[in-house]
Amino acid sequence: MDLVYGLLVVLHLVGWAIVLGGCLVTLRTSELPKGALHGALTALVTGIVMVGLRSAEVGDLEPPDNAKIAVKLLVALVVTGLVWYGSRKPEKVTRGTVGAVLGLTLVNVLVAVLWR
Ligand code: HEM
Repeated sequence: MDLVYGLLVVLHLVGWAIVLGGCLVTLRTSELPKGALHGALTALVTGIVMVGLRSAEVGDLEPPDNAKIAVKLLVALVVTGLVWYGSRKPEKVTRGTVGAVLGLTLVNVLVAVLWR
């Protein structure tokens, strides 16, 4: 289970890295990066599965901090919603949209790392 959980953490980080790195590249344009939707969905699903495993206290996993998870989930849903909307209606994407996706993803990195 340690290996499975470890791989989920890796996929989670790679998913958000795709969104974060991609938005840094397209920051000065009105385009969301290609692959951002796949990255966000991969990371969202792996995050939810990890929370499920931890809540079930599979192996020696400890239960998650639900307040922290609630904040992360809310922010991640906004990020994923923006990326999804942008992939459906690319002509509506502005530099502000790209900045918002980048900024909110960064906020969640800060929450993930600093909220202990
Ligand atoms: C923009 C959205 C998100 C970003 C940027 C993000 C980023 C991160 C980062 C950097 C870590 C590693 C740091 C740490 O272990 O504390 C992490 C871990 C984790 N994330 Fe996220 N996350 C996001 C959304 C979510 C969501 C929506 C969930 C679940 C509903 C989630 C669940 C988790 C869990 C359970 C871990 C802990 C892994 C562990 O150390 O056992 N994350 N996330």
